[in-house]
Amino acid sequence: MTRATITVDRDFTIGEVPRRIFGSFVEHMGRCVYTGIFEPGHPTATDEGFRQDVLDLTKELGATVVRYPGGNFVSGYNWEDGVGPVEDRPRRLDGAWHTLETNAFGLHEFVSWSKLANVEVMEAVNLGTRGVDAARELVEYANHPGGTYLSDLRRKNGAEDPFDIKLWCLGNELDGPWQLGAKTPDEYGRLAQEAAKAMRYVDDTIELVAVGSSNSRMPTFGEWEYAVLNHAYDEVDYMSMHAYYYESEGDAKSFLASAVDMDYFIESVVATADAVRARGKHKKFIDLSFDEWNVWYQRGLDTEDQPHNVSKAGWREHPRVIEDEYNVTDAVVVGTLLNSLLRHGDRVKIANQAQLVNVIAPIRSEENGPAWRQSIFWPFARMAELAKGQILRTAVHSDKIDTAQFGDTDLVDVSATWDEGSGRAAFFLANRGLDEAATVELALRGFTTGRVTRAEVLHTPDGKDRFATNNLETGEQVGLLPLDGVEAAAGGLTFSLPALSWAVIEVEVTKN
Ligand code: AHR
Repeated sequence: MTRATITVDRDFTIGEVPRRIFGSFVEHMGRCVYTGIFEPGHPTATDEGFRQDVLDLTKELGATVVRYPGGNFVSGYNWEDGVGPVEDRPRRLDGAWHTLETNAFGLHEFVSWSKLANVEVMEAVNLGTRGVDAARELVEYANHPGGTYLSDLRRKNGAEDPFDIKLWCLGNELDGPWQLGAKTPDEYGRLAQEAAKAMRYVDDTIELVAVGSSNSRMPTFGEWEYAVLNHAYDEVDYMSMHAYYYESEGDAKSFLASAVDMDYFIESVVATADAVRARGKHKKFIDLSFDEWNVWYQRGLDTEDQPHNVSKAGWREHPRVIEDEYNVTDAVVVGTLLNSLLRHGDRVKIANQAQLVNVIAPIRSEENGPAWRQSIFWPFARMAELAKGQILRTAVHSDKIDTAQFGDTDLVDVSATWDEGSGRAAFFLANRGLDEAATVELALRGFTTGRVTRAEVLHTPDGKDRFATNNLETGEQVGLLPLDGVEAAAGGLTFSLPALSWAVIEVEVTKN
């Protein structure tokens, strides 16, 4: 048995929970759009061709904002191809993923789907093969009320009211040599500045996300952020971050400590943005949009059906691409990555787990078949449901796990929130220990602890190992179970977390 003590104090808060950190991502990639969220002819399809089963799971997941239409895809995409009568839309080669794009699904369809899913739209513009003009025209098409060629074209295409999209990404991963239209930091910084200016001339209420490094291992990491913000600081609101190098390569302990790396990445970008702020004597702060993150077995999957090198897939329509099947260990890691995002909620204001369905996703679906929850669905869904109000600082004294990549790391990881309105505090916990349960003493200073309203745990199902997954054959064997034995006293809680587990505890609290 290992041990941890956690202390929170009513007066020590980080800031309000930025609800946009519970974002997701829909890209025209693999089967995320086609046979994921959109499948006319599916038994559950709505009149517009949306899969109702996937819509229901999206609502249950609790995503607040969804980024669209890519990803690498957007860097070669003409937004005009996806509007107007479907029968007139062009079939195109998508160079990013080597697939054939029918354009049967486009902007109007995504906005309609978003309303049904109850999510905010986060739209990306193409700053790879296109530029300032296409970006500002898309804003005019989407957001201008009417009386101009482009806004009237939207109305003619069936949307009388403007879409009123507030959140815009100024391209995608343009630091990456794989990206269509990749750029140097200065080339991109200037382009982002000018595109932002032109887009705001059309609608000055929008919020803009500049492209940051594709990950913290990029050779230009740091230099990229500094140069881009030196050009575009005044014109943008957020800097983006992406990270996917969280995968188990046989070193389970380091994998379980992945959030240490996410902490480092976030704190480095905050420091860089603040350095530009100081140098330029700017008043405002640039916040972060961690708009692609997840566990992704980048080196794992390479089958005939699902080749890792997508160019081997040929020009097929919506082939299977990176449909990772997530296990219990992956779900624990995802829980700790969410903890890292929430603990940095004073600066990380937007985050999008990539992607929503089928492509490295919490939801899976089969063509003409069922949809189901992967293991990683659960930490996301519970945090999106229960993390409300203020983020509480957590003081943790935990036994350690010795990891090859990150050294000694806390065995017990936690984030915490307190919602004064509902009178509830929520704790999101992980036990990284592979073999031993952890006894946790949780002190709630400044509160009187009341009834425990939720206590659930995700860990290995009976008789199965930590590699257990949910798939068509197994059904949903990995899910949440009641966490028994949570004891509440006036000043806090004591409980035990099973070996390798993720857990949530919600408790009534009153101020004292
Ligand atoms: O989400 C999958 C891909 O990963 C995205 O298209 C790209 O932005 C990133 O490299």
